[in-house]
Amino acid sequence: MALDNIQLFRGNVVHLTGDPWQSDDALSSVDDGVIVVADGLVHQVGSADEVLAQPEFAGIHCVDYSDYLLLPGFVDAHLHYPQTGMIASYGSQLLEWLNKYTFPAEMRFSDLDHARRMAEFFAQQLYMNGTTTAMVFATSHVHSVDALFEVARRDNVRLMTGKVMMDRNCPQALQDTAARSYEDSQALIEKWHGVQRLQYAVTPRFAPTSTAEQLGFAGKLFAENDGVYLQSHVAENRAEVQWVAELFPDSRSYLDVYDHFGLLGDKAIYAHCIHLNESDLARMADTRTAMAFCPTSNLFLGSGLFDFNAVRERNINVALATDVGGGTSFSMLRTADEAYKICQLNGQSINAAQLLYAMTLGSAKALSLESRIGNFATGKEADIVAIDLAATPLMQLRMDSAQTLEEKLFALLVLGDDRCVRATHLMGHKVYDRELNNKPAD
Ligand code: GUN
Ligand code: ZN
Repeated sequence: MALDNIQLFRGNVVHLTGDPWQSDDALSSVDDGVIVVADGLVHQVGSADEVLAQPEFAGIHCVDYSDYLLLPGFVDAHLHYPQTGMIASYGSQLLEWLNKYTFPAEMRFSDLDHARRMAEFFAQQLYMNGTTTAMVFATSHVHSVDALFEVARRDNVRLMTGKVMMDRNCPQALQDTAARSYEDSQALIEKWHGVQRLQYAVTPRFAPTSTAEQLGFAGKLFAENDGVYLQSHVAENRAEVQWVAELFPDSRSYLDVYDHFGLLGDKAIYAHCIHLNESDLARMADTRTAMAFCPTSNLFLGSGLFDFNAVRERNINVALATDVGGGTSFSMLRTADEAYKICQLNGQSINAAQLLYAMTLGSAKALSLESRIGNFATGKEADIVAIDLAATPLMQLRMDSAQTLEEKLFALLVLGDDRCVRATHLMGHKVYDRELNNKPAD
């Protein structure tokens, strides 16, 4: 059968073919490799010698990234696009930070033009950081969801978002009602869920800003709409945990509030998960609920140290995430660096393959997307990031003395940032090119 729309990408192909927590040979590489893409999907990966000799590829232009690593596009499993403009706001922990900086920034999204401008800026930040899949909070304004999905549809990026449901403990201008949040979310699901690579995420902000009635409606939306996600926050900050205990005195724990309303499950993903107890961890495992580990945010807001080993020992799926703007960078490389350091403070040394897994195949699995993205297996969507291991003089020096792929990858994950991203492709199509971006304007 003839292949359609063939593209060839040549470089040092590196990806995970399994879970590095379970197998020592999960990291796979082809030094001088070619990824063959047909109609936006991976068709084949092989050595350049072998692939380019195949007669069917004769005469097809090969995109030359020979000096670069070719990695699967990064997955950012939790961030807030309305918080892009207030990233790096000084001096507060979670609850004060929300009131002082976050809610005012989100109130500006009542203006549709502002939402559209920020959605555009946000998408460019994803691509210039090599992020090709993102699970995103919008605001409580319905049109904030439309604005982001419109940009994502145009670019064909894999993106999940949803209207924030919030009917108490927030400024009036951001507050909805339980019934209206249900109707608005349902209408957005019908409009956007399953369009191209877009999927809807039911988005109750966190237990303190929803009444029991609203959490009930969130559970109904999650149960009644096939394939939609549920995203929220849990057990991030000690004062927050205490507040939830006061608001929901009958619940066994913070997580139990969500459990009570049917908000756990294999398409539910919770950010932070720092202050959970043993029964909570068991419940997350039993329900196959996923966690988003947000290291730059947890350090910036002084929230606490995520226990990566405890979670992986229980086989709970974990995805790395930036949590911009509580998080301080859009770069999943910067995020991996901070994840490593948090683990070190817990007496754990996460290796390069485990870190890369948590931002590619492992996060794809956490989001039930492992049949579509996360590595270069045949049939997967060809989201590719070309990475420059020598983007800075210091990185060049470090790479000169690195002996193995693991050593190089580890140095990349610790030293790297957006300067390392040479190009980003979504289903083969280029959406970012460092060389073009850096050209002076005429
Ligand atoms: N908990 C509830 N809302 C938020 C938010 O916007 N950011 C963070 N980091 N935690 C939250
Ligand atoms: Zn968040």
